Amino acid sequence: MRNFREVTDRTGTRSVKWDMTEQLFKDKEVLPMWVADMDFKAPEPVLNALSERVDHGIFGYTMTDEKIGDVIQHWLAKRHGWNIEKDWLSYSPGVIPSIHMIIQSLTEPEDSIMIQTPVYPPFYSVIKAHDRHLVSNPLSFENGHYAIDFEDFEAKIKQNNVKMFILCNPHNPVGRVWKEHELKQMGDICLRHNVQIVSDEIHADLIFPGHAHVPIAKLSEDLNQATITTLSPTKTFNLAGLQASYLVIANEETRKTIKDQFNQQGLYMLNTLGITALEAAYQDGEEWLEKLIETLDEHKSYVIKRLHQETSHIRVVEPEGTYLLWLDCRSLNLSQNELRRFMREDAKVGLNDGTSFGDEGEGFMRLNIAAPFATLEEGLDRIITAINTTYSSQ
Ligand SMILES: Cc1ncc(COP(=O)(O)O)c(C=O)c1O
Repeated sequence: MRNFREVTDRTGTRSVKWDMTEQLFKDKEVLPMWVADMDFKAPEPVLNALSERVDHGIFGYTMTDEKIGDVIQHWLAKRHGWNIEKDWLSYSPGVIPSIHMIIQSLTEPEDSIMIQTPVYPPFYSVIKAHDRHLVSNPLSFENGHYAIDFEDFEAKIKQNNVKMFILCNPHNPVGRVWKEHELKQMGDICLRHNVQIVSDEIHADLIFPGHAHVPIAKLSEDLNQATITTLSPTKTFNLAGLQASYLVIANEETRKTIKDQFNQQGLYMLNTLGITALEAAYQDGEEWLEKLIETLDEHKSYVIKRLHQETSHIRVVEPEGTYLLWLDCRSLNLSQNELRRFMREDAKVGLNDGTSFGDEGEGFMRLNIAAPFATLEEGLDRIITAINTTYSSQ
């Protein structure tokens, strides 16, 4: 079983996280703790399957077959208690390409699409890229906890004649794993106003103990028909570079429309190694995933405890899922520019800027804890030392 403490040098692998450090943060000494991939090797069964496939030596056109459908069906039933039909599946190189296709095929220019901010930055760009009207239902933040403003949710849908709602569950960056009653309430409102739900559940497998992921499409037959769910093993098993994801669409007409759109773009195939990794991960990766979640849980507790004990200037919004910590840095009393500069130049850590997730992210930064403990510890040492150096005399 893989040791999550092992440090692997990723520089020189064309890693967006590691090889773009100097370009993005203007200093190659900055420790990258930003983009959502992990500094852990993929599970051994995945590495073995990939090696075997590479050893075969021929990489011709490759199809997704019944067996891939079986493996996905089994995974969703086992991990999320969600029983899907294999017919509901279609494949895509990524969740974001899928959302582009969905927007193009199910909405018209100027149509309103709603998101819950702060949220993963491409949710903004996919809407803008197709000249759709972006409607925001900001999450409320009280006593360190994010929640949905349902009144605003329904009012915005009515006022803007919203056609589509892109749900992020679990939510990146705030780490909420939406509860069944919250999903039901949002779902009922969408059904009432005929809103197409697009549920991005890419972080579905990364759930901390005490919480459970609920696919919104599972809640009722009406919601099943009104929802397109986008999923992928790439976050769960650290396979983002292999680009393999899938969509679950129960509604036949919707599925046909989306599939036609993919076909029109010539996107009807996944890459050979992506398929191989998906199959091996879902078939034999579960034990690794359990260990990963244990490790992430320890890392989360470590960061919360250290920041709590060693500084009063940063508070962690405790996540229920994902490996991304949303740091409330407002007590540092810095403008966003100063906060970015402080993290980059004084602490020398590369974090995601809170405002890249929307205006609500002012005063926040996002920290990725999916790294070996030594890397995480180094990052935390840097942040705490920088804070204590700057603020000790104040
Ligand atoms: C919520 C969410 N959706 C989608 C993605 C990216 O998906 P893909 O790489 O499959 O396009 C990410 C990556 O961080 C994410 O956090």
